[in-house]
Amino acid sequence: MAETLAELDRRVTWHPFTQMAEWSPLVIARGEGSWLFDTDGRRYLDGVGSLWCNVHGHAHPRLDRAVRAQLAKLAHSTFLGLSHEPGIRLAEALIAVAPSGLARVFYSDSGSTAVEIALKQSFQYWQLRGRPAKQRFLRLGDAYHGDTLGAVGVGGIDLFHRVFGPLLVQSIAIPSPFETDGTAALARLEAELSNRAYEIAAFVVEPLVQGAGGMLVHPPGFLSKASALCRQYGVHLIVDEVATGFGRTGTMFACERESVSPDFLCLAKGISGGYLPLAATLATEEIYSAFLGRRADLVHFFHGHTFTANPLACAVGLESLALLRESTLANVQARILEITAALTRLSALAPVRAVRQCGMMVGIELHPIEGRALGVEVCEQARAHELILRPLGDVIVWMPPLSISADETQHLERATMTAIMSTVPR
Ligand SMILES: Cc1ncc(COP(=O)(O)O)c(C=O)c1O
Repeated sequence: MAETLAELDRRVTWHPFTQMAEWSPLVIARGEGSWLFDTDGRRYLDGVGSLWCNVHGHAHPRLDRAVRAQLAKLAHSTFLGLSHEPGIRLAEALIAVAPSGLARVFYSDSGSTAVEIALKQSFQYWQLRGRPAKQRFLRLGDAYHGDTLGAVGVGGIDLFHRVFGPLLVQSIAIPSPFETDGTAALARLEAELSNRAYEIAAFVVEPLVQGAGGMLVHPPGFLSKASALCRQYGVHLIVDEVATGFGRTGTMFACERESVSPDFLCLAKGISGGYLPLAATLATEEIYSAFLGRRADLVHFFHGHTFTANPLACAVGLESLALLRESTLANVQARILEITAALTRLSALAPVRAVRQCGMMVGIELHPIEGRALGVEVCEQARAHELILRPLGDVIVWMPPLSISADETQHLERATMTAIMSTVPR
């Protein structure tokens, strides 16, 4: 008999964050709106927005058209030493919607590289400005900024990061302000800054909510106070909006909610509507200007990737931004309220320990049971109820496409509830 795609997958691939010895593939054939369809034609609501990046749903006619129109002109040409219209136009559009002060766009292709670039630019900026001792980074406990080594160096999730410890750039942890009023975290931040701002380049932070740490929502005001402290002590603020950006928390960027204008803004995931790999690191004109000089001075930024500013990705990014402003951002506002109501109902279930929400970023934490991987079990169970979910430990995550409808939100709630109740013993 001919080998199935799932069997072939088992023979030739190695999947990310996956224990291959205990895994069997679900092979997705196509997507439409909020739904994914497997090779047997079964449908599933995309409850995690294809790893938190889908904005307007799958196979959106306008996004498809934007890719095709660009494809007819140019699929790829390098941004190293050359330029192209989609890259230029998207940079202009990003600066127009970004917090004030951000004036320059440096492209790459994933959230990890967007963060890595901010770290390197901050580091080099201080060298160029005659402050060579500023080489260290501050970050939060349970932080997640990606999987390349620089990004792991400012990460704080033991489970993911411990094994790579000896390889990493060392960073200084500030306790996460999650489940506190933020006073202790801010006091610690201020203590570190007042003791050793001379050796600190930047503070890296996920704004309002730490996603991969378990949807850890910060107390209001933490970001703006942390930002003021960084400014006071002459340390860069790098805001990582890879997960929160492009409407996910209810505004275009989470920073806006606390009127924060960082020195660096890291964007990825939703930047292309979730269609193609694209990322951007935005910086201020002051930072950019430090890298200007004669070519022979060798002060320019020695960093770039083959697919930096891929034209197809930039073209779809431009259309995605237009769609967000025309309609999808308004949809988020309506759905946020329905999701809040759904979470109130879910929080009444005995197996649910806590629910957390920041806009359309949701964590449903289950009471742990010794010897069980409840998060994984619930997410596997959800598939039988036409729903794709992916847990963070015992936390069930909702990160649906921002275009999700009211009916689909109800499906998300019902299928999650059924999956929890059929997994956890009463
Ligand atoms: C806040 C944050 N930063 C960075 C990343 C890494 O992005 P990527 O997976 O595109 O490298 C993620 C991914 O989940 C993220 O949530």
